[in-house]
Amino acid sequence: MAHIIIFASSKGGAGKTTVVANLGVAMAQLGQNVVLLDADIMMANLGLLLGLEEQKVTLHDVLAGGAKLSGAISSGPEGVKVVPSGISLEGIQRAKLDRLKKVVSELAKKFKFLLIDAPSGLDRDAITALTMAEKIVLVATPDIVALSNAFKTKLIAERLNVKPIGTVITRATGRNVDISHEGIKSTLELPVLATIPEDPELRRSAALGEPVVTHSPKSPSAKEFKKLAATLVKISAAR
Ligand SMILES: Nc1ncnc2c1ncn2[C@@H]1O[C@H](COP(=O)(O)OP(=O)(O)O)[C@@H](O)[C@H]1O
Ligand SMILES: [Mg+2]
Repeated sequence: MAHIIIFASSKGGAGKTTVVANLGVAMAQLGQNVVLLDADIMMANLGLLLGLEEQKVTLHDVLAGGAKLSGAISSGPEGVKVVPSGISLEGIQRAKLDRLKKVVSELAKKFKFLLIDAPSGLDRDAITALTMAEKIVLVATPDIVALSNAFKTKLIAERLNVKPIGTVITRATGRNVDISHEGIKSTLELPVLATIPEDPELRRSAALGEPVVTHSPKSPSAKEFKKLAATLVKISAAR
């Protein structure tokens, strides 16, 4: 059975998509059988970060009922498998999100790790995506608002029987305005799996449609993504 892990945060711009893209590529580099699913139907950009924006068949087409899932799985950097979502003005009708469940269970049969990029917030789409997962990683910037929202997300996940396994702190400045690692750990009562620094290399590589872990492997954020990949593989093996 696959490890189905959703990466969620209450607000956009926290770095969820960046984390899922880079973590996925770093796990593929470790030889893991991993697939990434863009469940942010309305603001899809996982494909964009991995240079797959030209892909013809996307999750949109599968959810709309016109395409097979196998046609929507593509290969990204380092061979990581990705199911991108399309960018369409009309989006996807909400009712069709129900089909997402079938997509998730099909992927779970084929892969060891299924990492889901969640929509921001806690609206219906986000909750729907959350219910598909087995475990959740909270993605939060080190500030009080993000932390408070991460706490709410944790409570909702628990109510939905999705197990919180840890927090990834993103966009850390290293200055003392950031809430400390210890503060975040004790407030959320969860281990901090990684602290990704604010890193201009991330924007540079994103603009090229490349993950920082391959474009700039020695950059501070790339090093943290690689450590995070090793950590996630390790804690998953202990299950
Ligand atoms: N650690 C970081 N350092 C610098 N920029 C970052 C970092 N994490 C994310 N970003 C940038 O912030 C923007 C939003 O990130 P994204 O991953 O799309 O967030 P989300 O998916 O949570 O909305 C992107 O332009 C991304 O390149
Ligand atoms: Mg995103």
